[in-house]
Amino acid sequence: MSLNETISDQQLLLIEQIMQVKTGKDLHQFKRPFLNRRINARMKAVGVRDGSEYAKLLESNSTEPSALFKSFSINVTEFYRDSFVWECISSKIIPQILKNTGTRSMQVWSAGCASGEEPYSIAILLKEIIGTKNLKFNIIATDISADAINRAKQGQYLSQSLKNLSPNVITKYFTPINNNTYQISESIKQLVTFQQGDIISSPVEHVNLITCRNVLIYYDKPAQELVFKKFHKTLNDDGYLVIGQDETMLGVGTAKSFSCILPRERIYSKLVSGENTIA
Ligand SMILES: C[S@@+](CC[C@H](N)C(=O)[O-])C[C@H]1O[C@@H](n2cnc3c(N)ncnc32)[C@H](O)[C@@H]1O
Repeated sequence: MSLNETISDQQLLLIEQIMQVKTGKDLHQFKRPFLNRRINARMKAVGVRDGSEYAKLLESNSTEPSALFKSFSINVTEFYRDSFVWECISSKIIPQILKNTGTRSMQVWSAGCASGEEPYSIAILLKEIIGTKNLKFNIIATDISADAINRAKQGQYLSQSLKNLSPNVITKYFTPINNNTYQISESIKQLVTFQQGDIISSPVEHVNLITCRNVLIYYDKPAQELVFKKFHKTLNDDGYLVIGQDETMLGVGTAKSFSCILPRERIYSKLVSGENTIA
């Protein structure tokens, strides 16, 4: 049996309509090549040959719609992914936030946190650089995938995902479970609050720093626009946003409401007033 990987506009429209009815999810927001790849992967997994046949399966099978939606959640991550970005957050952004706020408390949102490596990296970083200085911090971590959030709450990681951590940090904040798996310590776990949900509807507010890395790459520009608007609203006036290495605000209207302060690291600061900001 050969697979016809081409999904016509008509077949895609049908698949989108069925998904909207069966799951309430809007597939329009994803980039077309990404949609094609995920639908093709599901077609292969369930052994159907083309888009029409797959649409029929989505209609008749009770579990396939949620299996397709789950396949849109790409959970690849690791501790201190792109370590130079984290060095910059540690040496420039966090000291600046503390200076700006003049307070000893800080709110961080890891949006699209996958299995927790990113928010736990932030927790370790804050504990290492300012934990001893009596600073209060609160890290909220959200992801649309319930499976990812459950794994994050469990906090068990393969050694491969710890490769950017120093042996000292591993000894301090992890306990080996076996040769290849580590458990994150309770002292780090308790610094992060995990919530399952879509970025757009997450009830997060008044934050100093948002990390949303390697999430928006799968979304089209209108969907990215909504998310950047949400981030602008959620950030405090002197807040910062960090996006992924392969992500950009180019082509998104909301870009004018942020200033790209560190282009290589993809770090932005919120603009608050004047003609270049959101009305
Ligand atoms: C590739 S992982 C990135 C993890 C981490 N931020 C990093 O850079 O290593 C992308 C995560 O974003 C989540 N995600 C995708 N769309 C989302 C949305 N609309 N709201 C919340 N999370 C979302 C996925 O479920 C996935 O766990």
